[in-house]
Amino acid sequence: MLRILAIETSCDECAASVVEGGEKVLSNIVLSQVEKHAEFGGVVPELAAREHLASIEIVIESALKKATLDMNDIDAIAFTNGPGLVPALLIGANFARALAFSYRLPLIPVNHFTAHIRGAFLDKNNSIQKNPSNYPMIALVVSGGHTALIHITANSKAKIIGQSLDDAAGEAFDKGAKILGLSYPGGPAIEKTAQNGNPAKFAFPRALTGAAGRAVEECDRFNFSFSGLKTALQNHIRKSENYISYASFISDTAASFQEAIVDVLVKKTIFAAETFSAKTIVISGGVACNQRLREKFLKYSAQYSVIIAEKQYCTDNAAMIAAEAFYMQPFEKNYNVDVFARLKNETIFSLGK
Ligand code: KG4
Ligand code: ZN
Repeated sequence: MLRILAIETSCDECAASVVEGGEKVLSNIVLSQVEKHAEFGGVVPELAAREHLASIEIVIESALKKATLDMNDIDAIAFTNGPGLVPALLIGANFARALAFSYRLPLIPVNHFTAHIRGAFLDKNNSIQKNPSNYPMIALVVSGGHTALIHITANSKAKIIGQSLDDAAGEAFDKGAKILGLSYPGGPAIEKTAQNGNPAKFAFPRALTGAAGRAVEECDRFNFSFSGLKTALQNHIRKSENYISYASFISDTAASFQEAIVDVLVKKTIFAAETFSAKTIVISGGVACNQRLREKFLKYSAQYSVIIAEKQYCTDNAAMIAAEAFYMQPFEKNYNVDVFARLKNETIFSLGK
């Protein structure tokens, strides 16, 4: 069984994992730097790179140890080559190259975005991906860096059909939390605060959904926009100065804000699924940890097979990188490590082989 050691350093998680046969996770080590970046209210690329450099060796050693393996048991090395923060990506890429070169192993550059989709199938029944009757699929990747809908067909082609025109949903959570005086990262903080709140208390905008009688242009049917929501939250707080010391006001605001994001994500995904007669809906990325989002999607389980990534594979991890690498066989013997910051709009990739 092919064993891949994968390294992920695209943002503020330093991660390594060993995955066997593209599906069996033997180890999944994630060292989060979140506390180091918290005081800045967001990820600082150079700081992330420095932290990756300090921890990558121990993270890889831990991944091998947890899997009770050593380098001689590894068949290939995978690493994230983008999209992400270039200084951070370069640490993982160069470490992966050195390791692959010294052990004469194939080196596999992996697209982090595609890997998020693949991560949704980890620790699930793997035949889901292999069975053509589960296609077409609509995948929603919803993280701090991306909010995108992907149409995946049985001939293993995938195409982005829509994405955020401005902020990603995770970014909206992070910025919203900052406005509300909550901690970073904002998603978990807003979710926690929202637990005691009323999601119907305040009406926040649901952009590009046709809400409030605003027609959606054809080209934006599957696109998202969250920057207006942030402005609406700012205005809401400004208008309510007398109430902001009340915990119930903050929890109602957090719940209503979260509801607006979740509503848009669910509505657009279901619309895409209807439009493309999808059989399966796949949800992944950090925001997919959100319980409200998970519950709302699971309500569609009668119409679609709803696959939501396990929480440990929603946020950044290296197991999803190893899983995606497995599907990139045959491996090229190439030790180039070009990294890239942004996802190309028309990206088409191979899935579900
Ligand atoms: O996938 P991820 O770890 O990194 C990127 O590739 O961006 O996603 C991180 C994002 C952050 O914006 C964070 O606020 C959000 O995922 N997030 C959540 C939750 N947990 C993490 N958003 C909403 N609810 C959550 N429970
Ligand atoms: Zn990610």
